[in-house]
Amino acid sequence: MEIIILSSTEEVGETSADVIADVLERSDRPVLGLATGSSPVAAYRALAARTGSGDLDLSDVDAFALDEYVGLPADHEQSYATFIRENVVAPLGLDPARVHVPDGQADDLEAACTDYERAMGDAGGVDLQILGIGANGHIGFNEPTSSLESRTRIKTLAPQTRQDNARFFDVIDDVPRLCVTQGLGTISEARTLMMIAQGEHKAQAVAAAVEGPLSAMCPGSLLQSHRRAIVILDEAAASSLQLADYYRYVYANKPDWQRPRRRAPRG
Ligand code: F6R
Repeated sequence: MEIIILSSTEEVGETSADVIADVLERSDRPVLGLATGSSPVAAYRALAARTGSGDLDLSDVDAFALDEYVGLPADHEQSYATFIRENVVAPLGLDPARVHVPDGQADDLEAACTDYERAMGDAGGVDLQILGIGANGHIGFNEPTSSLESRTRIKTLAPQTRQDNARFFDVIDDVPRLCVTQGLGTISEARTLMMIAQGEHKAQAVAAAVEGPLSAMCPGSLLQSHRRAIVILDEAAASSLQLADYYRYVYANKPDWQRPRRRAPRG
């Protein structure tokens, strides 16, 4: 696992975008796994600047979102379909026909979950999965004690997650109780996992995921068993890590050949 600690939101966004662009440009059939919420916003903004200037072209990328609320219409302002459309598809110049979000409104939700898994497989699997982490350690909406082998399925949101996400709704009662989420087994099949976390309120979850035991009690700890996992943090999110100085030392001494390729901007 590589832990990168940075000092500003802008650096978190640029560094995340470097890794994402590098992985996708190396792939013959690029597939990106998308997260919603606050954590990846700086990365999406940095990618949008590159596609907007013509330095990066993502129009041939297939993309799959991690999760969706059950029961919100796709055009609801808080549905993840809306988030992806507004923050990812349009700004990054993705082809809307190639971008998939789990269907939280399907009559047969279980069949829709199976279809989603099949579509991910048909696309060749995910090259890089972007992840945030919940204050309770969840990734996707795999709440604590989710099976490490779980697949895309219906889950009940933990009360803390509903409380944390209430900021996006008028009142907490409007936050759905159910969701559809890729499972931990699904997520672990992505060839690279990239977790982004910012802010003091994520520090305990980050420490549990990175330095605690590999345990279903902290689904983010799944990254410890992955062959290529990158964790990109600001100082506040890194503030409970015991080995923070070691991670800074490793990153400062990383050989150039291991760093993402940076192409000179056009023009
Ligand atoms: C979102 C998702 C969640 C969030 C997590 C952190 O698609 O899967 O795991 O990444 O709840 O949310 P933010 O980034 O809003 O703090």
